Amino acid sequence: MSFFSNLFSKKQQLNPIDLSVLRTDMHSHLIPGIDDGSKTMEETIAMLIKFKELGYKKIITTPHIMSDFYKNSSTNILKGLEDIRDEIKRINLDIEIEAAAEYYFDETLFHKLEANELMTFSENHVLIEFSFSIAPQEHERLFYDMRIKGYKPVIAHFERYLYYHGSIDQAREWREKGMLIQMNVNSLFGHYGPGVKKQAENLVDSGQIDLLATDCHRIDHLTILEQNLSSSYLRKVMNLPLKNNVL
Ligand SMILES: [Fe+2]
Repeated sequence: MSFFSNLFSKKQQLNPIDLSVLRTDMHSHLIPGIDDGSKTMEETIAMLIKFKELGYKKIITTPHIMSDFYKNSSTNILKGLEDIRDEIKRINLDIEIEAAAEYYFDETLFHKLEANELMTFSENHVLIEFSFSIAPQEHERLFYDMRIKGYKPVIAHFERYLYYHGSIDQAREWREKGMLIQMNVNSLFGHYGPGVKKQAENLVDSGQIDLLATDCHRIDHLTILEQNLSSSYLRKVMNLPLKNNVL
């Protein structure tokens, strides 16, 4: 390594990225015991402390709602939220927390939309995830129906869907229709494998990202982020006009 490149890499290490400009994280699994995220209130509080240390001011937590596996509803999610709020008040932890949900796309989502049961965040945003390996069908009809009703679909971790790898055209098309694309920050550090990392880099290079999120299920997800605060791609994504700070 030359003197100058050595100096440059030292400078990068000395300048970790300040995540506080994001203000809000809008995808995580912090309600204890209701999905594959936090298991206990202690774990939840440890994660919230770490979020605060990383500079976040507000957390919108999004438990899975998946017909066969996670039969959550606004009732148990809002009860869990209330319990977390009681605990952060009790220990005097200064961080704001709200709840919505991460909806798995299947036919039951049409019924939830029909019944006006969807949990939203910010301006009627609804977080939706797909199968990682099997391309969805009928989703455009759902998105159309949602937009008619005034909802704004947000596509969770676009870079993780294997059938879109190699192209970001689908992200571009959805954004042109007013939908939002969310990327998991740890995808940039190889946490979900090299293919997902490559697609995440494609998203960053083409600027097709609206929201950057942790999708935090356990504290490791935040320590991985903490260990990569000097990453060049993190620097690059933070220079995009992200919408986290207006949520
Ligand atoms: Fe998630």
